[in-house]
Amino acid sequence: MHPEDVIQSRTDPRGIITECNDTFVDYSGYALDELMGAPHSIIRHPEMPRSLFKLMWREIQAHREIFVFVKNLAKDGRHYWVVAQVMPEIARGEIVGYHSFRRCPSRRAVETFETLYRRLMELERRLGGDNGMNAALKELTDTIAKMGGAYDALVYANPHD
Ligand SMILES: Cc1cc2nc3c(=O)[nH]c(=O)nc-3n(C[C@H](O)[C@H](O)[C@H](O)COP(=O)(O)O)c2cc1C
Repeated sequence: MHPEDVIQSRTDPRGIITECNDTFVDYSGYALDELMGAPHSIIRHPEMPRSLFKLMWREIQAHREIFVFVKNLAKDGRHYWVVAQVMPEIARGEIVGYHSFRRCPSRRAVETFETLYRRLMELERRLGGDNGMNAALKELTDTIAKMGGAYDALVYANPHD
């Protein structure tokens, strides 16, 4: 990603895309009408662990925002790493949809999460099913907890770091 770009999207409560900016269209390589009404997983990269999305949905469904590092897949097969802020949109106490902003992550962040996500996918694969998911989710949340302030530092890092 270019350091100045911000990729934005909105979904309904099930994660169906309802709105996105031109930058989303550019990076994803899909036409706007292919994106509208599509599940957000349209840009899911096969190297992303299921446990990361489980954590993301758990947090946003609990009315919290979360910052996650995601490798996305463009229509033409290229990939682009983002640091995404994902948050619920709440009206009268109910979730009416979700909103996200993505920026360019630092090189250091990409290296860190590439390694971690490989480990999580390996756990998910080796143990399989619920066991794999639970072990990977624990590894993910333990790693983030252990990182402490270092996680936030990567979220807010200069893309050139
Ligand atoms: C606001 C919002 C933004 C999302 N952004 C992405 C994204 O950039 N890339 C992605 O792979 N999934 C994103 N997701 C998660 C997808 O909805 C989905 O859970 C994920 O791609 C895993 O797909 P699967 O459950 O079909 O494997 C987002 C969800 C929401 C609600």
